[in-house]
Amino acid sequence: MVDVESALDEAGLKNPRVREYVAHWAAITQPDRIEVVSAEDDARLVQEALDAGELQPAGPGRYYSRSYHLDTARSEERTVVATGKPEDRGVYNNWKPADEMTDLLVERMRGASAGKTMYVIPYLMAPPGSPLEPYAAGVELTDHRPVVLHMIRMARVGVRHVDALDDPDSFVRAVHVTGDLPNLGQGTPDDQRYFATVADQRTILHFGSSYGGNALLGKIAHGLRQACYDGRASGAFLAEQFMLLGITDHETGKRWHVCGGFPSASGKTNLAMTLAPEALGDRYRVDFYGDDIAWLWVGDDGRVYGMNPEFGVFGVAKDTNERTNPTAVDAIGEGTGVIFTNVAYNDQTQEVWWEGMTKEPPADVTGWRDWKGELISEREPGDASPWAHPNSRFTTTLANVPNVADDFEDPAGVPIDAIIFGGRTSDREPLVRAITDLAEGVYDGLTLGAEATFAAEGVDGQLRYDPMSMRPFLAYGEGDYAAHWLKIIGAATDPPIFAHVNWFQRGEDGHFRWPGYRDNLRALLWLCRFKDGDVTGRRTPVGVLPTVEELELDGVEITPEDLEAILTVDVERWRQEMGFREEHLRQFDRLPEEIWAAHRRVAGALDAE
Ligand code: PEP
Ligand code: NA
Repeated sequence: MVDVESALDEAGLKNPRVREYVAHWAAITQPDRIEVVSAEDDARLVQEALDAGELQPAGPGRYYSRSYHLDTARSEERTVVATGKPEDRGVYNNWKPADEMTDLLVERMRGASAGKTMYVIPYLMAPPGSPLEPYAAGVELTDHRPVVLHMIRMARVGVRHVDALDDPDSFVRAVHVTGDLPNLGQGTPDDQRYFATVADQRTILHFGSSYGGNALLGKIAHGLRQACYDGRASGAFLAEQFMLLGITDHETGKRWHVCGGFPSASGKTNLAMTLAPEALGDRYRVDFYGDDIAWLWVGDDGRVYGMNPEFGVFGVAKDTNERTNPTAVDAIGEGTGVIFTNVAYNDQTQEVWWEGMTKEPPADVTGWRDWKGELISEREPGDASPWAHPNSRFTTTLANVPNVADDFEDPAGVPIDAIIFGGRTSDREPLVRAITDLAEGVYDGLTLGAEATFAAEGVDGQLRYDPMSMRPFLAYGEGDYAAHWLKIIGAATDPPIFAHVNWFQRGEDGHFRWPGYRDNLRALLWLCRFKDGDVTGRRTPVGVLPTVEELELDGVEITPEDLEAILTVDVERWRQEMGFREEHLRQFDRLPEEIWAAHRRVAGALDAE
């Protein structure tokens, strides 16, 4: 039996409840060694990972890793929320009884870390001192060293975060066991993986992956799923898959903060890390707070506050380049400690490459290997499969992002001026529509949708709905979730404005009508000014739209026809959309009457057009 007590003593880890927890799971997973880690251990652990071949060098202070080829993304089918309360079952949360899932995972994990080290990672999903700190502490146990390296980049890691707790029991128990990856039947009827958040026990049990969202338990399982549950159980906050940014107008001295949710592939990371368009000169500054998670609460002054509980960015590499996301390019440069996962790698030059990094892949393929580790030079002629996995990633700390806000670690958080939703849709959604009513804003979030694929374009026009972009992360039923939103934001005396944005309208020939990227700031500037009462916009059945005169368009290349289209509501299309929405909302138990009333108001206004 491994000596748990000595390992914990050596690290000076005193919290008695954490000690019991580590001992309990060590007896189940049976590792050979236990090591408690802190962020200060990073350089040593990186060297160990390089020596063990888990990482490869990718230039000064940059690293490369490959995950098992059937383990390259979150698995939504194998992810469940388990509790003791059947009323927590929702449409999207794959609810299971807590006892059943715990028993099953204990069985899978029994003896599964034999021969390995169990790393104990005490972490905090909040800036220290945050009013939400009581929900932010956790201890991940993992048997995979690269998971530790990712956690050190994505969360604040150190023994102090769990030894200073007011209530020694108030930490999330997050157990990660990799399992025998080549023998887990990933994606087959005999799939052995299970990723369970036992939410009412604040316990996360993930078995069968060493990748990203399945294995970095602070991030999605705690930061989103567990926090979603805790936010309602405490009545204190919302935890959302939101980006968060700040905008400063140097001319007027105004400063605004905007957060919001976007289903995947709708440009959330690029928006969050955006800079002001060059054509607007140096009048505006955009500060980055977070690209994936925001926790929101109401402050004593009656405003909604937000903060990013993470410490880093786990960004999609594909299409990241100087034009699409220049700040990300800086954040993954030399000396940043970035870890690339599943991009293409050249084991002679130690370079990395992914689709969209440059227009064409490197012309000289010598030394280049694809994300599976196979030599490009040995590919069959005509093999056009991607070099990098489409979900390949970079992991870097917030502090590496050149436009990270000066106050990104301020425990007070930042006051939120606007909450926006946006899905990729080629029609019906204008560039931006502001929503001033709370229930209509929450209704808009619940009916957030995006086109499932480009192939769906122009077909029957049904969107894939993704409430608040939380579909894979909801911890309890959608109706109760809507009620919790109404309660939290409804408690604010100076609430944020809501809005829906869309950067992806297309013309009949398929061209994008709006240039997107940095120019998206123009829509947000209009929204903030509308909230402040500096512009009035134009009322439509689905919200207030900017007039052409109100949008700052200096330097934007757009035809009058495209501009008209993105500032117009297609009433026919919207009437059809209302039918789809009604069907979508009908699935949810206990949906508050305020939400149905909002739906009827919008439908009535469309009918009156
Ligand atoms: C993942 O793929 O592991 C992941 C974290 O995905 P996403 O950022 O899309 O939630
Ligand atoms: Na995400």
